[in-house]
Amino acid sequence: MAPDPNRLDPRDVVARKRDGDELTPAEMEEFVLGYATGRIPDYLAAAFLMAVYLRGLSREETSSLARAMVRSGSTLPLRGVSRPKVDKHSTGGVSDGVTLVFAPLAASLGLAVAKLSGRGLGHTGGTLDKLESIPGFRTDLGAAELERQVEKIGCAVAAQSKDLVPVDGALYALRDATATVASVPLIAASVMSKKLAVGTDLILLDVKAGSGAFMKTPRQAFDLAAACIALSEAWGRPARAAVTDMSQPLGRAIGNALDVAEAVRVLRGEEEGRLRDLSLTFAAEAVSLLTGRPRDEARAAAERALDKGDAAESFARMVAAQGGDARVVEDPWGVLPSAPIRVDVPAPFGYLAGVDAEALGRAAVGLGAGRVHKGDRVDPAVGVEFCATVGDRLGGDRPLAVVHGRDGSSSAIAAERVRAAILVSDEEPAPSPLIHGWLGESPREVTDGAVREP
Ligand code: URA
Repeated sequence: MAPDPNRLDPRDVVARKRDGDELTPAEMEEFVLGYATGRIPDYLAAAFLMAVYLRGLSREETSSLARAMVRSGSTLPLRGVSRPKVDKHSTGGVSDGVTLVFAPLAASLGLAVAKLSGRGLGHTGGTLDKLESIPGFRTDLGAAELERQVEKIGCAVAAQSKDLVPVDGALYALRDATATVASVPLIAASVMSKKLAVGTDLILLDVKAGSGAFMKTPRQAFDLAAACIALSEAWGRPARAAVTDMSQPLGRAIGNALDVAEAVRVLRGEEEGRLRDLSLTFAAEAVSLLTGRPRDEARAAAERALDKGDAAESFARMVAAQGGDARVVEDPWGVLPSAPIRVDVPAPFGYLAGVDAEALGRAAVGLGAGRVHKGDRVDPAVGVEFCATVGDRLGGDRPLAVVHGRDGSSSAIAAERVRAAILVSDEEPAPSPLIHGWLGESPREVTDGAVREP
């Protein structure tokens, strides 16, 4: 077939990016949509991704990329939801159960959270995998069902539909196969295209920094946060990004059922600590920005919602609406699957001075809590409870960790990995802050929920 003279030659696009030129919005769109529709083959897209990885993208190019990605599918305007709508996204970490707490907590405070979540990626856990450890829980909600549930209950957590930014899945798989994942503009466009395609009034981003995050330093995380905020500004969408600490697991539970049980304790007001603290921070930020209440008042209201059981009740309603066994809120271990083997990992003497959180995440994946290959089944029962926080004095009766395994040999390997993942010191280390800082403007007004391109 003769080439279409009106179409640009995709090799020229690759060559221009390779040489450091700025691509026009039309070039970006034709290339991305050409790949989405199968007209542009993997080998050219792979070359394009490597050129982007090496040369970077300007703000305008990143915005054109995100727009083309959104245009590869349909949007979810959420027009049927009358409460103020907030989305919260984490770039991924270890023992990061914030969504499990935040969604029902925000719902109990009068907001709407239609959360489209992902599965575990590499060493990081996935909210869908965690929720599916509750017997009967369904994550495959259609758009109409999702909207109805959010209008009625205030929250839903579901799998992203195949129609929403479909090219992201294909591009992500190609990036994974070509060592081009760790590029700030590619990650920003990937994360934000999926947020911009949904009609919310506020986007909250939790950009993780540290040993358990994709961004290992706060500096890298701030760069990613700035790229995401620039995209939200280009689209006129209110967004705030917090760069938060992932130099150790956020909570104690690293697994699926273990994470749900921990989230339930936080939702019932029974657990203090960093997971509660960060969930309260995001809830207070959302309430304050969307309703105009001062932050300290919003935070006090969020604390009451945890301590008086309102947030736990919202969680129970969400679980029941999605087919799950809502008794998980009253009696988590009466409902959740538990592992047959438990191995205590004894704590050495000294101060806990550092943690390789990624290694802990990998220890849990090795037990079966995550996937080594796409499509692997996860074991909902297994995982690691990591019982210490950096700065703790170790060495008493309390174990360093408890491994929940399916069999003796995988449990022993995980215990060894946990032991190797910590740094112990004779000196008390300086505490690391939970939040390194915030970026982004406060929203000026609640929007009408329409998804509008820049
Ligand atoms: N999460 C995403 O959704 N996309 C990326 O590129 C990286 C993390």
